[in-house]
Amino acid sequence: MCGIVAYVGGRTAYPIIVKGLQRLEYRGYDSAGLALINSEVNVYKCKGKVKDLENHAKGKSISGSIGMGHTRWATHGEPSDNNAHPHVSQNGKFIVVHNGIIENYSHLKKELVSRGYTFQSETDTEVLANLIENIYINKEVNAEMAVRLALTKVVGAYGLVITCTDEKDQLIAARKGSPLVIGVGDNEYFLASDATPIVEYTDQVIYMNDEEVAIIKKDKLTLKSIQNDALKPKIQKVDLTIDEIDKGNFEHFMLKEIYEQPISIEDTFRGRIAMDHSKIFLGGISDVMPQLSQARRIIIAACGTSWHAGIVGEYLFEEFARIPVEVEYASEFRYRNPIINEDDVIIAISQSGETADTLAAIKMAKEHGATIIGICNVAGSSIPRETHAGVYTHAGVEIGVASTKAFTSQVTVLTMMALLLGKTKGHLKDSVYKELINELTQVPDKIRAILKAETDIKQIADTYKDANNALYLGRGFLFPVALEGALKLKEISYIHAEGYPAAEMKHGPIALIDENMPVFVLATKDKSYEKIVSNIQEVKARNGKVIAIVTEGDEVIKKMADHVIEVPDCHEAIAPLLTCVPLQFISYHIAVMRGCNVDQPRNLAKSVTVE
Ligand code: F6R
Repeated sequence: MCGIVAYVGGRTAYPIIVKGLQRLEYRGYDSAGLALINSEVNVYKCKGKVKDLENHAKGKSISGSIGMGHTRWATHGEPSDNNAHPHVSQNGKFIVVHNGIIENYSHLKKELVSRGYTFQSETDTEVLANLIENIYINKEVNAEMAVRLALTKVVGAYGLVITCTDEKDQLIAARKGSPLVIGVGDNEYFLASDATPIVEYTDQVIYMNDEEVAIIKKDKLTLKSIQNDALKPKIQKVDLTIDEIDKGNFEHFMLKEIYEQPISIEDTFRGRIAMDHSKIFLGGISDVMPQLSQARRIIIAACGTSWHAGIVGEYLFEEFARIPVEVEYASEFRYRNPIINEDDVIIAISQSGETADTLAAIKMAKEHGATIIGICNVAGSSIPRETHAGVYTHAGVEIGVASTKAFTSQVTVLTMMALLLGKTKGHLKDSVYKELINELTQVPDKIRAILKAETDIKQIADTYKDANNALYLGRGFLFPVALEGALKLKEISYIHAEGYPAAEMKHGPIALIDENMPVFVLATKDKSYEKIVSNIQEVKARNGKVIAIVTEGDEVIKKMADHVIEVPDCHEAIAPLLTCVPLQFISYHIAVMRGCNVDQPRNLAKSVTVE
């Protein structure tokens, strides 16, 4: 949610910043801007995408070997040229790009207005720029101190890059709640909201921590706390390659990521499943296995697609480990005064590891003494740093805003955890444990088989591309897949869609069914099979159109449904990993056929660092 990129060094900053913004565009894409610092300072910004910014800067001065850029996802103020970052303080002393939200901005703004400040934008960031400047001028301190003093007055979250026009040889960066990574080069430094714009230049990075400030010159990095205590930067090797952030031959990142799933799932279980499929090792949670296996309750906190993975987790943990599970929207959980005990285990699921509500939920649960486990994709992100233990999903960078491979990797981790826990607690017989591990290892090949059906699935997408509504039904392990299928369709094609437990249909949604309503039914062979067949008949009796995801060779449903999409036979607990894939294709192709921007759907952003 908002992307920041900055550079200090010997090269021309402009191409590095523009390319970096393109790489970060998935984080926000309603406006973009940059500042280039030379003997003079040039600020270019506009509503629209990075492409629009490039056009805007065409023919203008783009020199300077220090610079900062921003791609925005609006929080305060609509997308507009004025609200785009960077923001310049009233007297032109400070230039700021910001990711996050200054919660007490209206109070700070009032104070500044009373001191004669006027504002060009509706943003909280401009308030911050003016606050820093006001302190700088009144207190006659240097830029870095002005920044630190201003930040002590700020309530909220920020990832910031700031420059002062009186101290043009340096950038000042600060972080609280919104990620910032520093790339360490040879007499040059890079700064970005995540490592994707940096890997092209260096694999040495420093993940800034909350309440840290970095003062960065071409040949010197100083790290300190907001309170001015000196800190030692911890340089790490970044685990990301340039190929991972390239679309390759695919038209969209989403399609590439759908196709990556056999490999991303293999990466998720690589080194965690014994070669002979007899055991699961999850080193990241071994220290908390006693708490986990004795937990009175597991609470899963997450948002969006990760929340759907959490419901799959609920079914898995209850089935195999016999531990009660509650799955919470992190945003509700954190504000509801929930009852949390020391013998509860909280599992936070997050692709980005930065989702503000999920982060806040685990901080709160930690204060209550619960054990916190993370299931995250982005190494070094904020959530894994707040947890007691965790399992990285290792799905690789996910750039398409609609989550695909991150979901299947989350479900893979949850399956491994539930099986391991079931075995540890003695609820799973050795033979069943091994059989399920074996099933899990077959998932990549089974997904490869499903991927071959893309052309047929595309034809089904064509039939329903003009629908205004769609219903997704599933039971048991496949109910969360129905929710996920519906979310995927609405977020990228803007078709209204709802996911329901199939049996709930007759308690309301059945009223919506007519000949114009496509109903996607997850109907693989499991213990609810007969029931779901009845649900299909109920839809057909009302002239609804049924697209059923069935087990290979199912002749019964083929006779009833308008379309069937086959997936290989598998254990019912493994079925979410297979059945979600055709639904990803359906959403993808419908969105493409409707001319939607699949990788950057309107109003969305990849990493939701505001609550
Ligand atoms: C939907 C999607 C979102 C995210 C949600 C949580 O395709 O990607 O619903 O799942 O914003 O994000 P993370 O997993 O990063 O916490």
